Amino acid sequence: MAAAFSPAAAATALRFLKSFSGASPPLFSLFNNPRLTHSVAPLLLFSSATVSRQQRAFCSVVSAAVSSGEATKPEPAELEKGARVREFRKKFKIADIKGGPDQGLNRLGENLVVRGWVRTLRVQSSVTFIEVNDGSCLSNMQCVISSDAEGYDQVESGLISTGASVWVQGTIVASQGSKQKVELKVDKLVTVGTSDPSFPIQKKRVSREFLRTKAHLRPRTNTFGAVSRVRNALAYATHKFFQENGFVWLSSPIITASDCEGAGEQFCVTTLVPTSREATDSSVNAIPRTKDGLIDWSQDFFGKPAFLTVSGQLNAETYATALTDVYTFGPTFRAENSNTSRHLAEFWMIEPELAFADLEDDMACATAYLQYVVEYILENCKEDMDFFNTWIEKGIIARLSDVVEKRFVQLSYTDAVELLLKAKKTFEFPVTWGCDLQSEHERYITEEVFGGCPVIIRDYPKDIKAFYMRQNDDGKTVAAMDMLVPRVGELIGGSQREERLEYLEQRLDDLKLNKESYWWYLDLRRYGSVPHAGFGLGFERLVQFATGIDNIRDAIPFPRAPASAEF
Ligand code: 4AD
Ligand code: MG
Repeated sequence: MAAAFSPAAAATALRFLKSFSGASPPLFSLFNNPRLTHSVAPLLLFSSATVSRQQRAFCSVVSAAVSSGEATKPEPAELEKGARVREFRKKFKIADIKGGPDQGLNRLGENLVVRGWVRTLRVQSSVTFIEVNDGSCLSNMQCVISSDAEGYDQVESGLISTGASVWVQGTIVASQGSKQKVELKVDKLVTVGTSDPSFPIQKKRVSREFLRTKAHLRPRTNTFGAVSRVRNALAYATHKFFQENGFVWLSSPIITASDCEGAGEQFCVTTLVPTSREATDSSVNAIPRTKDGLIDWSQDFFGKPAFLTVSGQLNAETYATALTDVYTFGPTFRAENSNTSRHLAEFWMIEPELAFADLEDDMACATAYLQYVVEYILENCKEDMDFFNTWIEKGIIARLSDVVEKRFVQLSYTDAVELLLKAKKTFEFPVTWGCDLQSEHERYITEEVFGGCPVIIRDYPKDIKAFYMRQNDDGKTVAAMDMLVPRVGELIGGSQREERLEYLEQRLDDLKLNKESYWWYLDLRRYGSVPHAGFGLGFERLVQFATGIDNIRDAIPFPRAPASAEF
């Protein structure tokens, strides 16, 4: 109902309003007009099946007034030419009331409007408490409504229930309860949208596994509201850090023909297989083939195989060798069949690339960046961080404060292997020099050896790392670095890049990678090559690290993982 607001509907409704009230008042004044308000609320509650077309148009306009808080009255002449677009104003939210240091006490006596969704309803003999949340902060607005308030009949008739959306006007008063400093003494209550009794999130605490099956409604819980706000703050702080340090943001392509990591874990992007419209009744024989029975990629959309990117790094390198310091922040995709709490098939990556920089600069940048964003959320998301500290991971604030204050440790892969070999612990995956470190090894190093401090491991064997990493003088290792953090393991992977053309060509040959397809990447080494370095940080792993959320599927709104692409 609220979504349908077209100029035509508005015009019809205005004509209807004129005949209804004998005048055309600013729409918002409907709610202040004692003659009309009693009619408004019941009108809003008609089901679409019972309202006439004219009534529906009227409802749309009322809903538009409810959603914006204000409406302008177009002059008749303007209506013919097309009405002027309203001036945009920041919406007033619960955080504007309760988010300040005195949690709303500075607004005592103010008469204002709150809009949001009902979390709970408690009917007592003298008054009713409606907890309303609009997602702007963790706190609900406790709305106290007595039987003489306008719209109270909606409480009596059961329309106000968990999940319903409401518009509430009232006065800010000091709260009697200990949970909040202020509450809203309601003058007027309007149901914007009722909630069916089947609303699935009724109980206060439901499991996160259950909520994953309700990913469209889980943002209405405390946990997911808080995770969303902190995720948003981390994204904002990311841009802020890089912008303040002279980096240029770059959008790297999502569709690519190169496999940056060389691991072959890419999703193919093709129009050779039928589109979703034809998918159900199409034959495999429809895929064009060459004489040799192979797929004929020349007939595909891009004329060759194309994939979703696993990393924007190679493209970032091109811009770093022109703009000096750049970063990407976008989605990346990996078709690795890892059903773990740290892997997604679609995740967001932040990839800075620094020119005239070596591995030491790279590690310094990664450390400063992580400390900056962590400090930012500790300072700017206090209420949500307190929530995580109480309900998700006890002690997370102290752990993150340590990250901001302590110096990070760095050690070589060879030293890390030595520590693991000496460990009085049996690992599922045995350790030898040259092996890829597993999550259990990474967590042992950060959590047990270094007591929860982030650790950077550097100079990995070249055979387990990507082709673009710069070879060290020992001929066996590359200038790579992984930053490991407690609970998550690898948060960042980066390296100094091989800037010497002959070394890079040799490496591509050794790995039997097709040099021709990297022609443009090799050109960067032909024309003004410079030492350069960069890293990639998995944004959802950062969200896990910063909120204490165990499973990466709860760190992104709609997780994509093997056999799971719901919503
Ligand atoms: O270590 P990775 O594979 O490094 C790269 O892609 C480089 N090209 C980055 C660069 O130097 N510009 O991935 C970087 C980070 C990992 O440390 C991890 O945090 C995250 O991306 N990551 C994943 N996060 C969620 N799900 C997955 N499947 C991930 N794979 C990697
Ligand atoms: Mg890695």
